[in-house]
Amino acid sequence: MQNIFRRKSVAHILKEAAEGHTDGHGAGSMNKVLGVRDLTFMGIAAIVGAGIFSTIGKASFDGGPGIVLLFLFVSVACGFSALCYAEFASMVPVSGSAYTYSYVAFGEVIAWIIGWDLLMEYAIGNIAVAISWSDYFTTLLNGFGLHIPEYLTMDYWTAKDMLSPEAKAAWLNAPTIGGLKVICDLPAFLITFVITAIIYVGIKESKRSTNAMVILKMAIIVLVLVAGAFYVQPANWEPFLPNGIGGVLSGTAAVFFSYIGFDAISTTAEECRNPQRDLPKAMFNSLIICTIVYVLIALVLTGMVSYKELNVGDPLAFVFSAMHNKYANYIAGVVAVSAVIATASVLLVFQLGQPRIWMSMSRDGLLPPIFARIHPKYKTPSFSTVLTGLVVGIPALFLNLQVVVDLTSVGTLFAFVLVCGGILRLQQQRKKAMHLRGADIIDEHGEKEKVPESKFKIPYINSKWIVPLMFLVAIMLFLKYYPGGLSGFFDFKDDKGVVTWHIIREKVPYLIFTAVFAITAIFSFLKDFSLVPVLGFLCCSYLLCESGTSNWERFLIWLVIGLVIYFLYGIKRSKLANKPVV
Ligand code: ALA
Repeated sequence: MQNIFRRKSVAHILKEAAEGHTDGHGAGSMNKVLGVRDLTFMGIAAIVGAGIFSTIGKASFDGGPGIVLLFLFVSVACGFSALCYAEFASMVPVSGSAYTYSYVAFGEVIAWIIGWDLLMEYAIGNIAVAISWSDYFTTLLNGFGLHIPEYLTMDYWTAKDMLSPEAKAAWLNAPTIGGLKVICDLPAFLITFVITAIIYVGIKESKRSTNAMVILKMAIIVLVLVAGAFYVQPANWEPFLPNGIGGVLSGTAAVFFSYIGFDAISTTAEECRNPQRDLPKAMFNSLIICTIVYVLIALVLTGMVSYKELNVGDPLAFVFSAMHNKYANYIAGVVAVSAVIATASVLLVFQLGQPRIWMSMSRDGLLPPIFARIHPKYKTPSFSTVLTGLVVGIPALFLNLQVVVDLTSVGTLFAFVLVCGGILRLQQQRKKAMHLRGADIIDEHGEKEKVPESKFKIPYINSKWIVPLMFLVAIMLFLKYYPGGLSGFFDFKDDKGVVTWHIIREKVPYLIFTAVFAITAIFSFLKDFSLVPVLGFLCCSYLLCESGTSNWERFLIWLVIGLVIYFLYGIKRSKLANKPVV
């Protein structure tokens, strides 16, 4: 009988990473070339992309100018998670990111779940980014008078819905093979191919491309902010919450998507010169810079035109075209070019991250050894890089943007929740070890191991009274402001007075969140949890609960598939199989 919660020790993980991978085909460790500036650039490269250039449009349309509040709340939630990521990254500076952290904190099966889940953040997220890139790219080409047939620029369902003139043209003009219309997003596939080729060739090349793209896109964003400020009419900020808080919260997945990325730089830990010092710094730098930029952009966008006009895929370019003057039109063109560059840089960072997570999982025996193979000349995980290209490029031909954005956000939030939970768990282990001499952790080789220490530590604030108090305040606010109070919430009847499954289903995530909040409050009281990870855990759990029930359902199906693979393959092939464990 295998113990699916067997843990890896930090010392062992670090030793393995130092030796390079372990399948016998490798060519040693990776190039250590990244410093704090490169990592900050890489963070910005990963964060600023499809979210701010594209999905913010629909979110502002639903939420009005008040969407700024959501940007601030999500940034705070990400900030708490970034602190937890930073503590882990400084303790276990290897490529696996949240996957490796969970192996240390929770044990193998949770680590596998996170590794499988990160596929959603990186690969599925990149499908979204590739599709968004293709949208801007085709618009840009059209601007230059170059036309790609519409049926080669979108997915089947978007075309079938015929909600835009382009979709209608795609549906009506698509050739048919065997009765099936040939409709696919060719540019999305091609950009994935090009980016994969760059990453295959090496981390230095990736670094150079990233730095160049970031400088350009940040310069353009500053231009948008400065130029846009002249067109702002404060009257557009009234009403601030046209659709209430509900309208703002409906943009949760889209706004969270725009922040994803600061965590991705932790996957390059083995290519950093001083990961323990530089990774935490770079995560905060990139998150702070992006928060400032996002809040300002949201203010400028909703100040330039009425929020009602923002339901477009290219809002940053659109607001300038809507000014109807020569200079503004010129800026709209420049924005479109920069969007193409911005989204390409996001693609690059995530295409870089995914193979490195697979590499870590393969080192642990949870994936076949070929996933950890390092190219003898380019020193990159070659097989995993090519496979990532295929896993992203092929679905990007056919999938719908909205579906992949939502899935990415749910998957990433889940990872954040576990990373914050992991820090809490390690802090408890540390405390126990301090109180009970000899209560060290027993590692996978049956030897005593010191509870892992990190060079960067989250400042400890006791949550004993704060979190239970927050819970009580939240319950009181809910009872006061929720229409109909408690009986209103438990009213599952539709307009005709019939209890419907649809209404119950929508409320299930809130019930789960309330239970999670209550349990966390009790444990905070009993165990003196540290406040920052608790707040990260709760904020991300809340954002998860706002992410829509159908997304939860898709996500759960994804996790079940992952678990089936683990029980068929990883559990027996794991390097920890048949070793004594905690
Ligand atoms: N934050 C990244 C983007 O918006 C994923 O494209």
